[in-house]
Amino acid sequence: MKKVLITGGAGFIGSHVVRRFIKNYPNYHIFNLDKLTYAGNLENLNDIDKSENYTFIKGDIVDSDFINNLFSEHKFDAVIHLAAESHVDRSITNPLEFIQTNIIGTVNLLQAAKVNWKDNEKGKLFYHVSTDEVYGSLRETGLFTEETSYDPRSPYSSSKASSDHLVRAYGNTYNLPFVISNCSNNYGPNQFPEKLIPLCINNIKNGKPLPIYGEGKNVRDWLYVEDHATAIDEVFHKGTQGETYNIGGHNEWTNIDIVKSLCDVMDKKLGNEAGTSQKLITFVKDRAGHDMRYAIDASKIEKDLNWKPSLQFKEGLSKTVDWYLNNNQWLDNVTSGNYQSYYDKQYS
Ligand code: NAD
Ligand code: DAU
Repeated sequence: MKKVLITGGAGFIGSHVVRRFIKNYPNYHIFNLDKLTYAGNLENLNDIDKSENYTFIKGDIVDSDFINNLFSEHKFDAVIHLAAESHVDRSITNPLEFIQTNIIGTVNLLQAAKVNWKDNEKGKLFYHVSTDEVYGSLRETGLFTEETSYDPRSPYSSSKASSDHLVRAYGNTYNLPFVISNCSNNYGPNQFPEKLIPLCINNIKNGKPLPIYGEGKNVRDWLYVEDHATAIDEVFHKGTQGETYNIGGHNEWTNIDIVKSLCDVMDKKLGNEAGTSQKLITFVKDRAGHDMRYAIDASKIEKDLNWKPSLQFKEGLSKTVDWYLNNNQWLDNVTSGNYQSYYDKQYS
C-alpha cells in the first residue's frame, strides 16, 4: 500500500482532498496530520473517518522531533502538504504564527522527507499546495502565469512564498522530488466563516451586517473547492516533478458583486423579499495592504493535465449556500467560543 501523508486534512480544502483520496484510492493508506487549530475540524470528515485506509494523527508540523519520528515510524511514500495558517487578516494581526507554521513547519516536513527518502528514490513525491497570492497584486488587466515573478505583499503571502522557495531549494539542492500548485480563492462546503463567502452566508442567516472592505472593488478569481481537490489529484498523479501548476476558475468577481449575488441567492432560498439581504451590506475600513486583483492563467494545467473546472459559479454558489443552510449544527459549532471574540476584534 502506498502511504500518503496529507497535512492539514481537517481544514477546508484538506478535508475535500482527504475524502477524494480515501474514496478513489483504496490502495493508498491516507495519514491525515493536523494540529486541529481553530480552522481544523474533524466533523469535516465524519463520513469517512472509519475507513480502513485512513488514520488521523493529531500533531504540530512546527515540532521537528515529532515530525522526524513520524516519518521514521511510517515511512511515507508521498506528502501532500496543505497545513498552514491561511487567513490574511489574521496574518496582519499575528504574523509570527504564520512564520512558524507556514515556513518552519514546511522546512520540518522537507527535512524529514530528505532524511528518510534515498536520493532520487522512485515513487516518492513532496507535493506543496500553495496560493496565487505569492504573485502579488494585479491591476485591471493581466493574469498570473507560472512565470510571474513572486511579489508577496502580506505576512500570509510572504510566508507561503518563503515555503514555495524552500520546496524548490530542497528540489534543487538535495534532489527532493516535488511539485507545487498555486491556486486562486476557493469556496464551498466546510470553509471557516472568517473568509468572505461563508462569513456573509452566516451573517445573512443571522441578519447581521455584511462587512465589505474599502469600496468592494477588489477582484478575486473563485474556484469551487472540489474542483481544486480534483486538480490536486491530477497534479499528484500526472504532474511533472519539479514543475509548478497554476489552478484557477476563470471566474473573476469584485467583492461587492459577489456579495450582492450571494444576497440574491440567499433571499430566494430563505423566501425573503428581493433586496432584503443587500440592505445588510456595510462598507468598513479597508484591509491593510489589500491586494487589488488576483486572476489565474490556468492554461498549463488545462493543456498538460487535461484539468478544467467542472462547475459554473452560479451552480457552485447555490450548492455552497445549500450546504451551509443544511448544516446549521456545523456552523453553530464553529461560530461558538473563540469565533465571537475574533469577530468582535476584527470588525469592531
Ligand atoms: P484552513 O485554514 O481551512 O486549514 C488549515 C488546516 O491546517 C487546519 O486543519 C489546521 O488545523 C491545520 N494546521 C494549521 N497549523 C498547523 C500546524 N502547525 N500543524 C499541523 N496542522 C496545522 O486552510 P485552507 O483554506 O483549507 O487552505 C489549505 C492550504 O491551501 C493552505 O496551505 C493554503 O495556503 C492553501 N490555499 C488556500 C486557498 C483558499 O482559498 N482557501 C487557495 C489557495 C491555496
Ligand atoms: O487567493 C487565494 C487565497 O484566497 C488563499 O491563499 C487564502 O488562504 C484565502 O484566505 C483567500 O485569501 P483572500 O484574502 O482573498 O480571502 P478572503 O475571503 O479573506 O477575502 C476575499 C476578499 O474579500 C478580499 O478582497 C477581502 C474581502 N473581504 C474579506 C472579508 C473576510 C471583505 O471585503 N470583507 C470581509 O469581511
